[in-house]
Amino acid sequence: MNAEALELIPKIFEDAQDFLPINGTDYIEFYVSNAKQASYYYQTAFGFQPIAYAGLETGLIDRETYVLQQGKIRFALTSPLRSGTEIGRHIDKHGDAIKVIALWVDNAEVAYNETVNRGAKSYFAPIIEEDEFGQVVKAGIYTYGETIHVFIERTNYKGVFLPGFRPWNPTYKPASIGLKYIDHVVGNVELGEMNEWVNFYGDVLGFTQIVSFDDKDISTEYTALMSKVVSNGNGRIKFPINEPAEGLKKSQIEEYLDFHEGAGVQHLALATDDIIETVSQLRNRGIEFLNVPLTYYDDLKGRVGQIDEDIEILKQLNILVDRDEEGYLLQIFTKPLEPRPTIFFEIIQRRGATSFGKGNFKALFEAIEREQELRGTL
Ligand code: FE2
Repeated sequence: MNAEALELIPKIFEDAQDFLPINGTDYIEFYVSNAKQASYYYQTAFGFQPIAYAGLETGLIDRETYVLQQGKIRFALTSPLRSGTEIGRHIDKHGDAIKVIALWVDNAEVAYNETVNRGAKSYFAPIIEEDEFGQVVKAGIYTYGETIHVFIERTNYKGVFLPGFRPWNPTYKPASIGLKYIDHVVGNVELGEMNEWVNFYGDVLGFTQIVSFDDKDISTEYTALMSKVVSNGNGRIKFPINEPAEGLKKSQIEEYLDFHEGAGVQHLALATDDIIETVSQLRNRGIEFLNVPLTYYDDLKGRVGQIDEDIEILKQLNILVDRDEEGYLLQIFTKPLEPRPTIFFEIIQRRGATSFGKGNFKALFEAIEREQELRGTL
Protein backbone atom coordinates (compact mmCIF):
# COMPACT_ATOMS: atom_id res chain seq x y z
CA MET A 1 0.00 0.00 0.00
CA ASN A 2 1.46 3.39 -0.93
CA ALA A 3 1.72 6.37 1.42
CA GLU A 4 -1.23 8.13 -0.15
CA ALA A 5 -3.50 5.15 0.42
CA LEU A 6 -2.30 4.84 4.00
CA GLU A 7 -3.18 8.46 4.62
CA LEU A 8 -6.69 7.80 3.41
CA ILE A 9 -7.40 5.13 6.01
CA PRO A 10 -8.10 7.35 9.00
CA LYS A 11 -10.24 9.64 6.85
CA ILE A 12 -12.38 6.79 5.53
CA PHE A 13 -12.61 5.32 9.01
CA GLU A 14 -13.72 8.67 10.38
CA ASP A 15 -16.38 9.04 7.69
CA ALA A 16 -17.63 5.52 8.27
CA GLN A 17 -17.91 6.19 11.99
CA ASP A 18 -19.57 9.57 11.77
CA PHE A 19 -22.56 9.08 9.50
CA LEU A 20 -23.99 12.35 10.85
CA PRO A 21 -21.31 15.07 10.69
CA ILE A 22 -22.58 18.15 12.55
CA ASN A 23 -20.84 21.53 12.26
CA GLY A 24 -22.43 22.91 15.42
CA THR A 25 -25.69 24.17 16.90
CA ASP A 26 -27.44 26.28 14.27
CA TYR A 27 -30.08 27.93 16.46
CA ILE A 28 -32.33 27.33 19.44
CA GLU A 29 -36.01 28.18 18.97
CA PHE A 30 -38.22 29.04 21.90
CA TYR A 31 -42.01 29.03 21.67
CA VAL A 32 -43.08 31.91 23.90
CA SER A 33 -46.30 33.76 24.58
CA ASN A 34 -44.85 37.19 23.79
CA ALA A 35 -41.83 37.07 21.48
CA LYS A 36 -41.69 40.84 21.24
CA GLN A 37 -41.18 41.23 24.99
CA ALA A 38 -38.99 38.10 25.28
CA SER A 39 -36.64 39.49 22.63
CA TYR A 40 -36.36 42.72 24.63
CA TYR A 41 -35.44 40.66 27.72
CA TYR A 42 -32.74 38.63 25.96
CA GLN A 43 -31.33 41.79 24.38
CA THR A 44 -31.46 43.93 27.50
CA ALA A 45 -30.49 41.41 30.16
CA PHE A 46 -28.33 38.94 28.21
CA GLY A 47 -26.81 41.22 25.57
CA PHE A 48 -28.10 39.38 22.49
CA GLN A 49 -28.04 41.40 19.26
CA PRO A 50 -31.11 41.70 17.00
CA ILE A 51 -30.51 40.16 13.57
CA ALA A 52 -33.69 38.98 11.83
CA TYR A 53 -37.46 39.13 11.92
CA ALA A 54 -40.40 37.38 10.25
CA GLY A 55 -44.08 38.09 10.84
CA LEU A 56 -47.07 39.90 9.33
CA GLU A 57 -44.77 42.36 7.55
CA THR A 58 -42.96 39.52 5.77
CA GLY A 59 -46.11 37.66 4.77
CA LEU A 60 -46.63 35.30 7.72
CA ILE A 61 -50.20 35.18 8.99
CA ASP A 62 -50.09 32.92 12.04
CA ARG A 63 -46.83 33.65 13.87
CA GLU A 64 -43.98 36.06 14.46
CA THR A 65 -40.29 35.27 15.07
CA TYR A 66 -37.47 37.47 16.36
CA VAL A 67 -33.90 36.21 15.88
CA LEU A 68 -31.08 37.28 18.19
CA GLN A 69 -27.39 36.44 18.17
CA GLN A 70 -24.35 36.71 20.42
CA GLY A 71 -21.07 35.08 19.43
CA LYS A 72 -22.13 31.82 17.76
CA ILE A 73 -25.32 31.55 19.85
CA ARG A 74 -28.50 32.18 17.90
CA PHE A 75 -31.98 32.31 19.48
CA ALA A 76 -35.28 32.38 17.57
CA LEU A 77 -38.25 33.52 19.65
CA THR A 78 -41.62 32.61 18.19
CA SER A 79 -45.19 33.51 19.21
CA PRO A 80 -48.54 32.71 17.60
CA LEU A 81 -50.67 35.56 16.22
CA ARG A 82 -54.05 33.93 16.81
CA SER A 83 -55.73 31.13 18.76
CA GLY A 84 -55.88 27.48 17.79
CA THR A 85 -52.29 27.14 16.58
CA GLU A 86 -49.81 24.34 17.23
CA ILE A 87 -47.43 26.88 18.75
CA GLY A 88 -50.18 28.13 21.07
CA ARG A 89 -51.01 24.57 22.13
CA HIS A 90 -47.31 23.95 22.89
CA ILE A 91 -47.15 27.09 25.05
CA ASP A 92 -50.38 26.17 26.85
CA LYS A 93 -48.99 22.75 27.73
CA HIS A 94 -45.32 23.50 28.46
CA GLY A 95 -45.21 27.23 29.17
CA ASP A 96 -42.53 29.27 27.39
CA ALA A 97 -40.05 26.57 26.40
CA ILE A 98 -37.47 25.38 23.90
CA LYS A 99 -39.02 23.64 20.90
CA VAL A 100 -36.11 23.33 18.46
CA ILE A 101 -32.44 22.44 18.86
CA ALA A 102 -31.32 23.09 15.27
CA LEU A 103 -28.17 21.35 14.05
CA TRP A 104 -26.01 22.79 11.28
CA VAL A 105 -25.12 20.09 8.73
CA ASP A 106 -23.64 19.99 5.23
CA ASN A 107 -26.44 17.76 3.90
CA ALA A 108 -29.84 17.91 5.57
CA GLU A 109 -31.39 15.24 3.37
CA VAL A 110 -28.66 12.72 4.21
CA ALA A 111 -28.90 13.65 7.92
CA TYR A 112 -32.66 13.08 7.80
CA ASN A 113 -32.46 9.79 5.87
CA GLU A 114 -29.66 8.37 8.02
CA THR A 115 -31.48 9.15 11.27
CA VAL A 116 -34.99 8.17 10.15
CA ASN A 117 -33.64 4.89 8.74
CA ARG A 118 -32.13 4.24 12.16
CA GLY A 119 -35.44 4.80 13.90
CA ALA A 120 -35.90 8.55 14.40
CA LYS A 121 -39.50 9.75 14.29
CA SER A 122 -39.95 12.30 11.51
CA TYR A 123 -41.12 15.82 12.32
CA PHE A 124 -40.94 16.97 8.70
CA ALA A 125 -39.30 15.55 5.57
CA PRO A 126 -36.59 17.55 3.76
CA ILE A 127 -37.83 20.81 2.23
CA ILE A 128 -36.02 23.48 0.22
CA GLU A 129 -36.71 27.10 1.14
CA GLU A 130 -35.56 29.90 -1.12
CA ASP A 131 -35.42 33.66 -1.38
CA GLU A 132 -33.22 36.18 -3.20
CA PHE A 133 -30.25 35.24 -0.96
CA GLY A 134 -30.18 31.57 -1.95
CA GLN A 135 -31.58 28.34 -0.60
CA VAL A 136 -31.64 26.35 2.61
CA VAL A 137 -32.52 22.68 3.00
CA LYS A 138 -34.28 21.75 6.26
CA ALA A 139 -35.60 18.54 7.79
CA GLY A 140 -36.78 17.67 11.29
CA ILE A 141 -36.86 14.72 13.69
CA TYR A 142 -38.25 14.31 17.18
CA THR A 143 -36.12 13.84 20.26
CA TYR A 144 -37.31 13.65 23.92
CA GLY A 145 -40.75 15.01 24.77
CA GLU A 146 -42.01 17.41 22.11
CA THR A 147 -38.52 18.75 21.45
CA ILE A 148 -37.23 18.46 17.89
CA HIS A 149 -33.94 18.61 16.02
CA VAL A 150 -34.05 20.51 12.75
CA PHE A 151 -31.16 19.82 10.37
CA ILE A 152 -30.13 23.02 8.59
CA GLU A 153 -28.07 22.95 5.39
CA ARG A 154 -27.10 26.53 4.53
CA THR A 155 -24.12 26.10 2.17
CA ASN A 156 -25.99 27.93 -0.61
CA TYR A 157 -27.47 30.68 1.53
CA LYS A 158 -26.17 34.20 2.14
CA GLY A 159 -29.14 35.82 3.89
CA VAL A 160 -29.27 37.04 7.47
CA PHE A 161 -30.92 33.90 8.96
CA LEU A 162 -33.26 31.75 6.87
CA PRO A 163 -35.31 32.38 3.72
CA GLY A 164 -38.32 34.57 4.48
CA PHE A 165 -36.61 36.51 7.26
CA ARG A 166 -35.64 40.13 6.80
CA PRO A 167 -32.83 41.95 8.62
CA TRP A 168 -33.95 43.43 11.92
CA ASN A 169 -31.88 46.44 12.79
CA PRO A 170 -33.44 48.54 15.55
CA THR A 171 -31.59 51.51 17.07
CA TYR A 172 -31.89 49.88 20.53
CA LYS A 173 -28.86 47.60 20.88
CA PRO A 174 -27.58 46.99 24.42
CA ALA A 175 -23.94 45.90 24.49
CA SER A 176 -23.17 42.18 24.37
CA ILE A 177 -21.88 40.55 27.57
CA GLY A 178 -19.32 38.20 26.06
CA LEU A 179 -21.32 35.02 25.51
CA LYS A 180 -19.57 32.94 22.83
CA TYR A 181 -21.16 29.57 22.10
CA ILE A 182 -23.46 26.88 23.47
CA ASP A 183 -21.35 24.55 25.59
CA HIS A 184 -24.06 21.97 26.23
CA VAL A 185 -27.84 21.49 26.13
CA VAL A 186 -29.38 19.46 28.94
CA GLY A 187 -32.58 17.45 28.68
CA ASN A 188 -34.76 16.18 31.53
CA VAL A 189 -36.60 12.91 30.85
CA GLU A 190 -38.97 10.78 32.89
CA LEU A 191 -37.89 8.21 35.47
CA GLY A 192 -36.43 5.16 33.74
CA GLU A 193 -36.08 6.83 30.33
CA MET A 194 -32.53 8.17 30.50
CA ASN A 195 -30.97 5.06 28.99
CA GLU A 196 -33.56 4.96 26.23
CA TRP A 197 -32.55 8.49 25.14
CA VAL A 198 -28.84 7.80 25.55
CA ASN A 199 -29.37 4.82 23.23
CA PHE A 200 -31.37 7.02 20.85
CA TYR A 201 -28.45 9.44 20.51
CA GLY A 202 -26.07 6.50 20.14
CA ASP A 203 -28.02 4.34 17.69
CA VAL A 204 -29.87 7.02 15.72
CA LEU A 205 -27.44 9.97 15.67
CA GLY A 206 -24.14 8.11 16.15
CA PHE A 207 -23.21 9.96 19.35
CA THR A 208 -21.05 8.38 22.05
CA GLN A 209 -21.57 8.47 25.79
CA ILE A 210 -18.76 10.46 27.40
CA VAL A 211 -19.77 10.70 31.08
CA SER A 212 -22.14 9.06 33.52
CA PHE A 213 -23.23 10.23 36.96
CA ASP A 214 -25.33 8.11 39.26
CA ASP A 215 -27.35 9.04 42.30
CA LYS A 216 -24.29 8.61 44.53
CA ASP A 217 -22.60 11.43 42.62
CA ILE A 218 -25.66 13.65 42.49
CA SER A 219 -27.60 13.41 45.70
CA THR A 220 -28.26 15.55 48.72
CA GLU A 221 -29.88 14.55 51.98
CA TYR A 222 -33.27 14.70 50.23
CA THR A 223 -33.21 14.32 46.48
CA ALA A 224 -31.22 12.70 43.71
CA LEU A 225 -30.84 12.43 39.98
CA MET A 226 -28.92 10.45 37.42
CA SER A 227 -27.23 11.85 34.34
CA LYS A 228 -25.39 10.66 31.25
CA VAL A 229 -23.69 12.87 28.68
CA VAL A 230 -23.65 12.07 24.95
CA SER A 231 -21.50 13.85 22.37
CA ASN A 232 -21.20 13.82 18.58
CA GLY A 233 -18.13 12.78 16.58
CA ASN A 234 -16.30 16.13 16.60
CA GLY A 235 -17.32 16.89 20.21
CA ARG A 236 -19.03 20.19 19.34
CA ILE A 237 -22.42 18.94 20.49
CA LYS A 238 -22.81 17.78 24.10
CA PHE A 239 -26.17 16.69 25.45
CA PRO A 240 -26.39 15.65 29.10
CA ILE A 241 -29.64 13.76 29.82
CA ASN A 242 -31.05 13.66 33.36
CA GLU A 243 -33.68 11.52 35.01
CA PRO A 244 -34.94 11.72 38.59
CA ALA A 245 -33.74 9.15 41.14
CA GLU A 246 -35.44 7.94 44.29
CA GLY A 247 -34.96 10.31 47.23
CA LEU A 248 -36.68 11.28 50.46
CA LYS A 249 -38.29 14.29 48.78
CA LYS A 250 -39.19 15.45 45.30
CA SER A 251 -36.22 15.76 42.94
CA GLN A 252 -35.68 18.98 40.99
CA ILE A 253 -36.08 16.84 37.86
CA GLU A 254 -39.55 15.72 38.97
CA GLU A 255 -40.45 19.34 39.67
CA TYR A 256 -39.37 20.21 36.12
CA LEU A 257 -41.34 17.31 34.63
CA ASP A 258 -44.44 18.32 36.61
CA PHE A 259 -44.33 21.94 35.47
CA HIS A 260 -43.10 21.36 31.93
CA GLU A 261 -45.64 18.52 31.69
CA GLY A 262 -43.15 16.07 30.27
CA ALA A 263 -39.58 15.79 29.05
CA GLY A 264 -37.81 18.85 27.67
CA VAL A 265 -34.75 21.07 27.74
CA GLN A 266 -33.72 21.90 31.31
CA HIS A 267 -30.81 24.26 30.70
CA LEU A 268 -28.52 25.75 28.11
CA ALA A 269 -24.90 26.24 29.16
CA LEU A 270 -23.57 29.40 27.52
CA ALA A 271 -19.79 29.80 27.37
CA THR A 272 -17.83 32.99 28.03
CA ASP A 273 -14.10 33.80 28.02
CA ASP A 274 -14.52 36.10 31.03
CA ILE A 275 -17.11 34.86 33.50
CA ILE A 276 -16.38 37.63 36.01
CA GLU A 277 -17.21 40.32 33.44
CA THR A 278 -20.21 38.39 32.04
CA VAL A 279 -21.76 37.65 35.44
CA SER A 280 -21.10 41.19 36.70
CA GLN A 281 -22.99 42.49 33.66
CA LEU A 282 -25.85 40.03 34.17
CA ARG A 283 -26.21 40.95 37.83
CA ASN A 284 -26.18 44.66 36.93
CA ARG A 285 -28.91 43.97 34.38
CA GLY A 286 -31.16 42.25 36.93
CA ILE A 287 -30.54 38.54 36.32
CA GLU A 288 -30.90 36.42 39.45
CA PHE A 289 -28.70 33.39 40.17
CA LEU A 290 -28.80 30.41 42.49
CA ASN A 291 -26.73 31.26 45.53
CA VAL A 292 -24.53 28.82 47.40
CA PRO A 293 -23.62 29.54 51.04
CA LEU A 294 -20.50 31.68 51.43
CA THR A 295 -18.87 28.83 53.40
CA TYR A 296 -18.44 27.23 49.93
CA TYR A 297 -15.45 29.58 49.47
CA ASP A 298 -13.78 28.80 52.81
CA ASP A 299 -11.70 25.92 51.51
CA LEU A 300 -12.06 26.54 47.78
CA LYS A 301 -8.32 26.81 47.22
CA GLY A 302 -7.79 23.53 49.05
CA ARG A 303 -10.34 21.83 46.79
CA VAL A 304 -9.41 23.27 43.38
CA GLY A 305 -5.78 24.41 43.86
CA GLN A 306 -4.27 27.48 42.23
CA ILE A 307 -6.57 29.47 39.93
CA ASP A 308 -6.04 32.75 38.07
CA GLU A 309 -9.17 34.45 39.38
CA ASP A 310 -9.44 36.37 42.65
CA ILE A 311 -11.46 34.15 45.01
CA GLU A 312 -12.88 37.22 46.77
CA ILE A 313 -14.46 38.38 43.50
CA LEU A 314 -15.79 34.90 42.74
CA LYS A 315 -17.31 34.91 46.23
CA GLN A 316 -18.96 38.30 45.69
CA LEU A 317 -20.48 37.08 42.42
CA ASN A 318 -21.19 33.56 43.80
CA ILE A 319 -19.35 31.88 40.91
CA LEU A 320 -18.48 28.20 41.46
CA VAL A 321 -15.21 26.45 40.55
CA ASP A 322 -14.39 22.81 39.85
CA ARG A 323 -11.28 20.99 38.68
CA ASP A 324 -10.70 17.82 36.66
CA GLU A 325 -7.56 16.15 35.28
CA GLU A 326 -7.33 18.62 32.41
CA GLY A 327 -7.87 21.95 34.13
CA TYR A 328 -10.63 23.84 35.89
CA LEU A 329 -13.93 25.48 35.07
CA LEU A 330 -16.02 28.30 36.50
CA GLN A 331 -19.82 28.17 36.43
CA ILE A 332 -23.02 29.71 37.77
CA PHE A 333 -26.71 28.96 37.27
CA THR A 334 -29.56 31.43 36.81
CA LYS A 335 -32.90 31.03 38.52
CA PRO A 336 -35.67 29.83 36.16
CA LEU A 337 -36.23 32.20 33.22
CA GLU A 338 -39.97 31.68 32.92
CA PRO A 339 -42.93 31.71 35.36
CA ARG A 340 -42.81 27.90 35.61
CA PRO A 341 -39.73 26.50 37.43
CA THR A 342 -38.43 24.89 34.25
CA ILE A 343 -35.72 26.26 31.96
CA PHE A 344 -32.63 28.13 33.18
CA PHE A 345 -29.18 29.06 31.86
CA GLU A 346 -25.74 28.07 33.07
CA ILE A 347 -22.87 30.48 32.40
CA ILE A 348 -19.59 28.58 32.05
CA GLN A 349 -15.94 29.44 31.48
CA ARG A 350 -13.62 26.54 30.73
CA ARG A 351 -9.98 26.81 31.72
CA GLY A 352 -8.94 23.45 30.35
CA ALA A 353 -11.54 21.35 32.13
CA THR A 354 -13.79 19.31 29.84
CA SER A 355 -16.11 18.04 32.60
CA PHE A 356 -19.36 19.43 33.99
CA GLY A 357 -18.66 20.57 37.55
CA LYS A 358 -19.29 17.35 39.46
CA GLY A 359 -17.60 18.84 42.55
CA ASN A 360 -20.31 21.53 42.67
CA PHE A 361 -23.33 19.25 42.32
CA LYS A 362 -24.05 18.95 46.03
CA ALA A 363 -23.81 22.69 46.78
CA LEU A 364 -25.88 23.45 43.70
CA PHE A 365 -28.61 20.96 44.35
CA GLU A 366 -28.93 22.14 47.91
CA ALA A 367 -29.34 25.67 46.51
CA ILE A 368 -32.08 24.39 44.18
CA GLU A 369 -33.78 22.63 47.09
CA ARG A 370 -33.88 25.89 49.04
CA GLU A 371 -35.72 27.42 46.06
CA GLN A 372 -38.04 24.41 45.83
CA GLU A 373 -38.78 24.78 49.54
CA LEU A 374 -39.88 28.38 48.90
CA ARG A 375 -42.10 27.19 46.04
CA GLY A 376 -43.58 24.41 48.16
CA THR A 377 -42.48 21.80 45.62
CA LEU A 378 -39.76 19.92 47.52
FE1 FE2 B 1 -24.73 22.17 32.74
